[in-house]
Amino acid sequence: MLVQGTEPSHPYSFLPEGYDVSDAWCVDKFRLAPRSQVADFVHESWQERGGQVDKVLDLCCGSGLLLRELLQRGYDVTGLDRSSAQLQQAELKIRSQERARLVKAELPAIPLDDEFDAVVSTGALVHLPNDTTLLRTFESVHRVLRPGGTFTFDMYTERHAESLVAHTTPTARVIESGPFTLLMSITRTAIKGTYNWHGLMFLRDDTTQTYVRRSETHQLYAWAQEQIVGLGARAGFGDIEVFDNFTRQPTGSQTVCETYVMVKP
Ligand SMILES: C[S@@+](CC[C@H](N)C(=O)[O-])C[C@H]1O[C@@H](n2cnc3c(N)ncnc32)[C@H](O)[C@@H]1O
Repeated sequence: MLVQGTEPSHPYSFLPEGYDVSDAWCVDKFRLAPRSQVADFVHESWQERGGQVDKVLDLCCGSGLLLRELLQRGYDVTGLDRSSAQLQQAELKIRSQERARLVKAELPAIPLDDEFDAVVSTGALVHLPNDTTLLRTFESVHRVLRPGGTFTFDMYTERHAESLVAHTTPTARVIESGPFTLLMSITRTAIKGTYNWHGLMFLRDDTTQTYVRRSETHQLYAWAQEQIVGLGARAGFGDIEVFDNFTRQPTGSQTVCETYVMVKP
């Protein structure tokens, strides 16, 4: 079979539907919270705090997995992401619904004049490369939130990153779904807490007996909880709480994913 393709491609270009396939595998394998659980968590937390929540911004919405859940729960949603390929997949899920809007932008900029009742982000802020970018992102979120609005997001722990490394090196994991195959590995870099995600993807076309190939590398950063809390406070947030993986449990030694909830006073 002929293999075609350019490499490397832009981060999160992915082959069509490749992101959702690899995401489902990771959720299952590494006990990450399914997006329905994330949506239930934020929905309940917004209801408990009181104050009407209608307008929600999903920061780095990716292929729209969480947007779809939020729409189902009746929210007006805006999804922001820098990847055109991911936004195209998101568009397929939201199908031009009136209550949904997609914006192409790159953090730390949030080029919107809206005021949101809540901002949420999953699996994405781990990609921000340094504390300046993270602080600027928090400040942008603070600017677009109404007073009393909440910012909920997750960060992977170093424990989780190390478990990804252990599962995918020295032999890459193979994830297959129909015509799509992904070889995935996560490696440590020389800088503590910094990791590279490598993906080599193939999409089979049975009619032409060919494969299209893509490869991508993303950086992941495991932050200490004190750093995130400190940056959130510097950006003007208060009432900062940290939970275990979109549950009401406190974080502990087994936590793979920390869920932060910050409030704009
Ligand atoms: C792992 S995906 C998560 C997507 C989605 N939130 C989800 O839960 O499925 C990370 C997303 O963050 C986006 N992203 C990473 N860095 C970004 C930045 N600086 N600005 C905007 N989007 C970014 C990527 O394009 C990608 O869609």
